[in-house]
Amino acid sequence: MLKGKKILLGVTGSIAAYKALLLVRLLIKEGAEVKVIMTPAARDFVTPLSLATLSKHPVLSDLFAGDTWANHVELGRWADLMLIAPLSCNTLAKMAQGMCDNLLMATYLSVACPVVAAPAMDEDMWKHPSTRANLARIQGYGNRVIPVEKGELASGLYGDGRMAEPETILAYIREQLSGGVRELAFDGGSGQMSDGNGQDLAGKRALVTAGPTYEAIDPVRFIGNHSSGKMGIAIARELAGRGARVDLVLGPTSVPAEYPGVTVHKVTSAEEMYNACMGIFPEVDVAIMSAAVADFRPVAPAVEKIKKKDDKLILELTKTKDILLTLGQQKKGQVLVGFALETTGERAYALDKLKTKNADLIVLNSLGDAGAGFGYDTNKITIFDRQGGETVYERKPKQQVAADIVDRVVNMLYA
Ligand code: CTP
Repeated sequence: MLKGKKILLGVTGSIAAYKALLLVRLLIKEGAEVKVIMTPAARDFVTPLSLATLSKHPVLSDLFAGDTWANHVELGRWADLMLIAPLSCNTLAKMAQGMCDNLLMATYLSVACPVVAAPAMDEDMWKHPSTRANLARIQGYGNRVIPVEKGELASGLYGDGRMAEPETILAYIREQLSGGVRELAFDGGSGQMSDGNGQDLAGKRALVTAGPTYEAIDPVRFIGNHSSGKMGIAIARELAGRGARVDLVLGPTSVPAEYPGVTVHKVTSAEEMYNACMGIFPEVDVAIMSAAVADFRPVAPAVEKIKKKDDKLILELTKTKDILLTLGQQKKGQVLVGFALETTGERAYALDKLKTKNADLIVLNSLGDAGAGFGYDTNKITIFDRQGGETVYERKPKQQVAADIVDRVVNMLYA
């Protein structure tokens, strides 16, 4: 939570300015007080009226309006944090030079609080040596830069340069403003441990697996599945957002997974995922296995590309190591969560996995449910526990599903 925190949001001229609306909403929902400054160029992308309505404060833009003068020094002293999102290439260059030709720049140069910036630009601009130099320069001045994400850009091209998603920016702000060692206290309202800042997992470590695995047939082909990794990435974010140090062991996916507090270990095969998990598991308090690990792999992948000279090709497959099962055998007090993705006999299979894999919770999602499963941004789950409990959840965005799962984990950790 950001209750009572004063955040000055600077919006600059970029197509990503529309995300500033979501950002203001999220910040207000967290309890922050938000004032918005726009550059003149930003007003071409999003209206001051929308931002004023959402932030509940007039939007400031001009150093002088009529015969009044916007006191940038006062604004700079008011804020606990200045966030510039989106940060355009142009404003970045001005920050690097210390130029002062609008209210946003005058305020930036006056603030006494930390400054966090979320750049947004096309990939070629992002990679230009002058942009690299400007970024290094503003970081050298003590400003924090939130990395851009890979994805579809305003130009229609695909690449680096998308502004981080509002939820990611929020996590950086929480982290920036929480700082220092936190004391855990019992929150009577939620019945959970909390530091009063939404950080009920502060001091905890978590392991998450996500995504598919690819099992090589030859140097160009593999056996894989349709998992996007979105559910596990959302879980890793939720854990980190609540203060845990997270190791995310991630199979091949193009979904961005970088997030403050999350160390991403990229792997390809089930064997690599297994080895990564074995190294990390003894150190963690919680392990959530959401990866769609291949159950079988070719016994002997061909060294050279297989040619189609015959009419038939028979591949001999062997079982991969079951990571969840192994962790269930090795666990010493960790909370262990497994997933079950089924197409039939859901309940029986989920209960069987809970028992045979010695998990504390099994999260079931059925491919039969609308809006659940591979690639969707929503999911519909049922959670089974070892006490015979069975909780059915509504269909929700995956980030909210992740919050439901992490709530259950927190309850078990502090039970
Ligand atoms: N899992 C794992 N390692 C494997 C296979 C599965 O850690 N080699 C984990 C998954 O991450 C998930 C759980 O086990 O948390 C169940 O996976 P699922 O594919 O539903 O079931 P399987 O155990 O593979 O059994 P089956 O394919 O027969 O349903």
